[in-house]
Amino acid sequence: MNKLIDKLYETCTLSPEEYKMLIDSRSPELSEYLFEKARKVRIDNYGKDVYIRGLIEFTNYCRNDCLYCGIRRSNLNAERYRLSKEQILDCCAAGYDLGFRTFVLQGGEDGYYTDEKMIDIIRTIKKNYPDCAVTLSMGEKSYETYKAFYDAGADRYLLRHETADAGHYGKLHPVTMSLETRKQCLYNLKQIGYQVGCGFMVGSPFQTTDCLVEDLQFIKELSPHMVGIGPFIPHHETPFADMKAGTLELTLFLLGMIRLILPTVLLPATTALGTIHPKGRELGILAGANVVMPNLSPTNVRKKYMLYDNKICMGDEAAECRYCLQKRMESIGYQISVTRGDHKSVL
Ligand code: SAM
Ligand code: FES
Repeated sequence: MNKLIDKLYETCTLSPEEYKMLIDSRSPELSEYLFEKARKVRIDNYGKDVYIRGLIEFTNYCRNDCLYCGIRRSNLNAERYRLSKEQILDCCAAGYDLGFRTFVLQGGEDGYYTDEKMIDIIRTIKKNYPDCAVTLSMGEKSYETYKAFYDAGADRYLLRHETADAGHYGKLHPVTMSLETRKQCLYNLKQIGYQVGCGFMVGSPFQTTDCLVEDLQFIKELSPHMVGIGPFIPHHETPFADMKAGTLELTLFLLGMIRLILPTVLLPATTALGTIHPKGRELGILAGANVVMPNLSPTNVRKKYMLYDNKICMGDEAAECRYCLQKRMESIGYQISVTRGDHKSVL
């Protein structure tokens, strides 16, 4: 099996059968071999820098009803909130002082934030912090809306495809949503000029190795600048409350594989990974990841943006999260980079 990893390292791709074989024959030794290669590729491209993104969870209202998500529309027990423009700008100000040069505005699909309101928010952030990147993660929009946000100054967009298998997609989402639309959004974002991120949950209900193979093939085909993967973690107020969480081990293995498939990709060690294991984010970096996304949201709303149970960093001030992650990265010999942390292709 080491040979398959060598092949992936050298050619950045495998056949579907080979991907499947590699995933299904995982072992601690094979993982260690993969992570060594993944670290080498990561260090060749980005050194030992870890890019930080200040995550601002600006609304937990959502018109969608994704079966896995704690802020889905049908969760009537979720206490809903929205941040005002001023509150968002306060988060940016605090983040800027802490060295953040990327702000990620993430939220549910909330009609309250009209295109006009968003354009105003994006323009103001870019005017106040011209040396910062703005990343949006607010779901599916029309080509025109994505274009208007881009023209207002947004640099990047995160939209996980969630699963590249249409049948699996249908089991995770209501019939009103489709994989085709999701993929079209990603191609539109890329065409407009955004640095684009797709991604999926590891161990989501009904996921098979074949689904993962399709995910890896789709990632190669789209060739995004960023890939966000993290374990699925059940939320007690969703239809998937009793489902099993994804594992640390498989998530790390896939991080390593994705690093070899897209050597220069921006790959976060996610909060979900830190939630299922106390050293999840450190292990993610050691498996090939190169980004962490500490929370900049006001502490009084943190508990309300509960996508899954037991999410970490709930009570921590932005500064605590920032320095906690710095220490964690230093403990494994890596350092936080106080830059925008763009993809290599745009440097
Ligand atoms: N509304 C935007 C969207 O759909 O892209 C952004 C917010 S959405 C809550 C962000 C991501 O959270 C989703 O893409 C999904 O992969 C992840 N997520 C939601 N529920 C989760 C769960 N139970 N476990 C792990 N990740 C989850
Ligand atoms: Fe938030 Fe460690 S990253 S407290």
